[in-house]
Formats: sequence, C-alpha cells, structure tokens
Amino acid sequence: MKLEEILKKHEYKRDRLLEIIHDMDDENINYHDLENLKILSKRLKTTIADIYGTITFYGMIRDEKRTRFEINFCSSTVCHIKKAKDLILFVEKLLNCDENGISSDGLFKINRVECLGLCNIAPAMTINGKVYGNLTKEKIENIIRELKNESNS
Ligand code: FES
Repeated sequence: MKLEEILKKHEYKRDRLLEIIHDMDDENINYHDLENLKILSKRLKTTIADIYGTITFYGMIRDEKRTRFEINFCSSTVCHIKKAKDLILFVEKLLNCDENGISSDGLFKINRVECLGLCNIAPAMTINGKVYGNLTKEKIENIIRELKNESNS
C-alpha cells in the first residue's frame, strides 16, 4: 500500500495519525523521511512538528517491538581493540540508521552491547541470535545484503 492509499483509508484525518503511522510502518514506508513528513503535514492539515511529536511517541512504542533483524554488536574491550567501533559506525551508515539505531527501511536495529562471550572471534555480533565473527566491512556488507534479499523474498 502506498502512502496516498493509507491516507485515503484513514480519510485524511489528523486524529487517525497514529494508525496512519502504524500502517506506514507495516508497509516499510519511512515516516522519518522529510518528504513523507511534508505529505503527511499537507494532507492532514497540520504541522510537521505536530506529526513528528506523534512519531516520537509511536517510536517509543515501536522500539519495544523487535525489528525484523536485531543486531547486537559487541563494543567491549577485545572487540574494541579490533576496531569494532569503526565497524559499528560503518554498519550504521550502511543502513542509514537513526539515533535509536533503527535503519531507514525499518528492517534493522543495531544495539551496542557488552561482551557476547565471543572474544575468540572478535570483532563479533549476533543477528537474531545467530553469531557472526571476525568481522570486516566486506563481511558485514555481504551479511546485510543477504538479509535484505531474504526479507524481499
Ligand atoms: S569483547 Fe566482544 S565478544 Fe567479548
């Protein structure tokens, strides 16, 4: 469903904004995107600030739910020595994450966590509990590409 269809379904009513955001979320439509915020503001006849306030509230609820892929990236000592910080920044940029570590497509959430007990294969992360170690930028790119393909199939 496209954004216009969602808005039409909810009769362009401001008081249904939370449901609209929820539907956008289900359709993986980015509600942080400025262009989408402008459309919402125009169609619902309200300000972007008003919409953003609701999105922030919704985000608190949404963050309680799991995104499709939950990445726990270790930032403890051994991984840190092995440049985990650079890799975390790399993957955050790759996924265009917001300040909460949620990717712009809503598929991924990155958490910086304490030692995962995988120091022998540092730098390490888990995604939905699956272990990935000896990470490099290239490895991470491949993993993310595979998961995105998986989510599209
Ligand atoms: S320090 Fe990263 S897994 Fe132990």
